Amino acid sequence: MIAGVSTTYTIAVIGGTGPQGKGLGYRFAKHGHDVVVGSRAADRAVPVADEIRERLAGVAGAGEVSGAANADACEQADVVLLAVPWDGHDELVGALPLAGKTVVSCVNPLAFDKRGAHGQVIDGGEGSAAERAQALAPEATVVGAFHNVSAVLLWGEEEYVDEDVLCVGDSDDAKLVAMDLARAVTGREGVSAGKLRLARQLEPFTAVLISINRKYKTHSGLRITGLPDRD
Ligand SMILES: NC(=O)c1ccc[n+]([C@@H]2O[C@H](COP(=O)([O-])OP(=O)(O)OC[C@H]3O[C@@H](n4cnc5c(N)ncnc54)[C@H](OP(=O)(O)O)[C@@H]3O)[C@@H](O)[C@H]2O)c1
Repeated sequence: MIAGVSTTYTIAVIGGTGPQGKGLGYRFAKHGHDVVVGSRAADRAVPVADEIRERLAGVAGAGEVSGAANADACEQADVVLLAVPWDGHDELVGALPLAGKTVVSCVNPLAFDKRGAHGQVIDGGEGSAAERAQALAPEATVVGAFHNVSAVLLWGEEEYVDEDVLCVGDSDDAKLVAMDLARAVTGREGVSAGKLRLARQLEPFTAVLISINRKYKTHSGLRITGLPDRD
């Protein structure tokens, strides 16, 4: 794929019945991608797909939206978005047919206590959910993206979310896919933010945004300054 040229994908959204998966699925389909909402039970995915389709009625150029069991959704897709909780992540991801797919993880291993949200330590600090997905699916190519975008804003009314999507990965081609998908959310290409291991910083950073949200009663996000103009 050539940087800056937008491609249309079929995207399986694993955990697509939750707010993050539903919101990203809606944005992707609105931008023209075909979306298969995935669930552990197909009969939970279908009504969510219906809800997204209803919301997109009359939107010119919107993609197809359907619902399926997670594994069936993967089989139909070029790109698989992991939008599931960290609890149960390994069991779920290890069972998915991901060989040959570009896999985008937005999974944030967070924990909450009396003092608020904080990142969980993965593999003694030497790991992240995205790296774990790569280890569980060695024949897939995993990138990390969309960790810091609020589900509320994704399902909101604004045409685009006024944020940057930071994309990390060891494969430049796969990272370009995530950067291209970011256009559906922010209206501009995502930011190439480094290798997959930097998901160790992006995932727990969401705890900082949650803390800001609580203080200011908002849905905060990230904008990176100093970059050349992107479309
Ligand atoms: N919510 C946000 O604003 C936000 C923002 C950025 C990143 N994220 C990240 O995105 C991911 C999804 O967030 P969410 O808020 O949408 O999560 P969620 O609602 O808790 O879960 C999403 C879906 O995952 C499936 N699921 C739940 N428990 C599971 C388990 N133990 N094993 C396998 N599947 C399970 C469920 O779908 P089925 O029951 O239909 O299978 C559920 O609807 C999380 O990792 C989160 O950190 C969330």
